[in-house]
Amino acid sequence: MGVVVTLEGERGQQRSALDQLAALVAADLGRVNETILRLMTSEVPLIPELAGHLIASGGKRLRPMLLLAAARLCGYRGERHIKLAACVEFIHTATLLHDDVVDASEMRRGQSTANMVWGNSASVLVGDFLFTRSFQLMVEDGSLAVLAILSNASRVIAEGEVMQLMTTADTSTSEDAYLKVIASKTAALFSAACRVGAVVAERPRVEEDALEAYGRNLGIAFQLVDDALDYAARQASLGKTIGDDFREGKMTLPVVLAFRRGTDEERAFWRRALEQGEQDDGALAHAMALLGKYNAIRDTVERARHYGAVARDALAIFPDSEMKQILSDTVEFVIERGY
Ligand code: IPE
Ligand code: IPE
Ligand code: MG
Ligand code: MG
Repeated sequence: MGVVVTLEGERGQQRSALDQLAALVAADLGRVNETILRLMTSEVPLIPELAGHLIASGGKRLRPMLLLAAARLCGYRGERHIKLAACVEFIHTATLLHDDVVDASEMRRGQSTANMVWGNSASVLVGDFLFTRSFQLMVEDGSLAVLAILSNASRVIAEGEVMQLMTTADTSTSEDAYLKVIASKTAALFSAACRVGAVVAERPRVEEDALEAYGRNLGIAFQLVDDALDYAARQASLGKTIGDDFREGKMTLPVVLAFRRGTDEERAFWRRALEQGEQDDGALAHAMALLGKYNAIRDTVERARHYGAVARDALAIFPDSEMKQILSDTVEFVIERGY
């Protein structure tokens, strides 16, 4: 299975930093993908059919690659990182299945979402299956320290998704509240993946903390960019539908900024569109014009740059190496990505 397969031509030039990371962990990543394929099987045919639809449609495999890379950065030479990287991707995949139901999304990784093909119930239940597979992998690993990190991250992700539900359609949502949501729903898994890399290598606490900080800040930058892309990407490159967040009344940072910076009349528009769901044919275009007027996309990406810089600086305690350089370059990929 490739790292990312769909719409390669569209994505071409932006892939280099991610490609380099993938190349450096290629052998390990191949084994992670084998583990994923082996464990998505079940005697219940709908499970591999639905899970396979999502898993085979690609995905960047960013979180497992970060775990593998963190372990290598810490000089790890054993085998545990393979199963644990698969475990992290299972958690991620489960959250995507659930997330697409919650967000009523129709497209992911360039294909119809599982909820569009098989319905919400099947998606939620297969998401549960993948999530429990992740716990079996933690049990096989046998480390309570790793179990603590990954089970905690799973709880925090769920809390983040629920927090987001509560800010949805609430135009009074602050930037702080938004940051709390994304730190939970997205950055928690990035930081856990990176920390686990250091834990399996049995490195001193300070290195675990450094990798966790790298992952957390990278994850925040990743979601900030994701929320900018929801308005500003080319749909074919992104593999997801543009404007999903607007249609669902999500209070992502571009909207939080444009709302705060807007006139009374413009705020009334945001309230009608996001709180009352009054969206006519021109609503998304008008929203995008307001985001442009107030530089809301540009400033969201600026915020991402800040967290990216923090992530890069967190790596300072590690001696220079190719892996350290590529983890640093990965920050650039996350900021500049179009998918
Ligand atoms: C999507 O994550 C969910 C978010 C946190 C925005 P990715 O963009 O890493 O998804 P795939 O795995 O590459 O499809
Ligand atoms: C990603 O959130 C889901 C989780 C992190 C659990 P979003 O809803 O913002 O991401 P996309 O746009 O669907 O990938
Ligand atoms: Mg979503
Ligand atoms: Mg969501």
